[in-house]
Amino acid sequence: MTSTPSLTLRAGLLADLPALLPAAAATFLLTDRHVEPLLGQGWGEIPRLVLVPGESSKSWAQLGDILRALDLAGLNRDGQLVAVGGGVVTDLGGLAASLHRRGIPWVAVPTSLVGQVDAAIGGKTAVNLGSGKNTIGTFHQPTNVLVDPQALRTLAPRHVHAGYAEMLKTALIAGDSLWQSVRALQACTDESDSNREVYEAALCSCVEGCLEVKQALVDRDPFDRGPRRLLNLGHTFGHAFESLALQRSDDELLHGEAVGLGLLCAARLGSLLRPRELSDQESLEDILRERLASWHLPLTSMEVPEDIVRAMRSDKKRQGDTHTVVIARSAGEVSIEEKVPEELLEQALTAVLST
Ligand code: GLY
Repeated sequence: MTSTPSLTLRAGLLADLPALLPAAAATFLLTDRHVEPLLGQGWGEIPRLVLVPGESSKSWAQLGDILRALDLAGLNRDGQLVAVGGGVVTDLGGLAASLHRRGIPWVAVPTSLVGQVDAAIGGKTAVNLGSGKNTIGTFHQPTNVLVDPQALRTLAPRHVHAGYAEMLKTALIAGDSLWQSVRALQACTDESDSNREVYEAALCSCVEGCLEVKQALVDRDPFDRGPRRLLNLGHTFGHAFESLALQRSDDELLHGEAVGLGLLCAARLGSLLRPRELSDQESLEDILRERLASWHLPLTSMEVPEDIVRAMRSDKKRQGDTHTVVIARSAGEVSIEEKVPEELLEQALTAVLST
């Protein structure tokens, strides 16, 4: 059984978060050192665990520490965990909440752009273990998702840019007006920019659109066996780029940056698998390339296509010697392709990385 969480998007809600939480016998706060200073008053004696920011915290050992802290705090099933932070905090918090006492309620408060448009919506929880990303996890829907667009003001520009790649992904799936709005969004990371207010309003409306599209797909397919898999667009390639970077203990590639590269590969694979009739139209890959460049996102990588394909073998959705990959042909024209041979993946990668 799953139920749709209550979604609230409001500028400034982080300041009075304790008052917005559902009633519970006890609350436990999970956050990280970057986000803790953004929290307002009213937390009183609520126990908290503050993580070291970054992907390296998304570990089995860290999960153990959180579970021990929940036990020590005496949280039972009438308690709740509140995870305030980026994807690392909400993925870990959701997983801990699903395991503690066989499952307690939790509230997701995503503060990064990737978290607000993707990671915190849909109840996927995870830690990294072994060769891949998110190899261990559960489905455990939060009771509430509370989104404060003002939190994005405190993000380093690079993290905002990385979030744009996730927005592009959702907008590509949705097509229509969300695609038009996300495609039109121009980066603005200069606080003194006179267009700042207009930018923030446009960004907020794109965040809301992406959030709604994602939640609608999750409602149709909470356990990721049908249409929700469209949200893996750019991720099968992206996770491989990310895993290779992680194996080198290299924090140089953010999740959203890897997804941006993955989108280019998914578009290229789309044109290889289902070529278009010759047309004057700009190719989707070119449009994506322009968008990623304008948001200062990487367009290429030093990785070798063979290594990337090898890393793709540890993807959770792989079946036998072929792969299930989401391809894009144009905005709104996105499909799940089964049994894609590795030769084609390598061909798409080689083409993208040598453009
Ligand atoms: N991040 C893709 C999903 O939640 O299904």
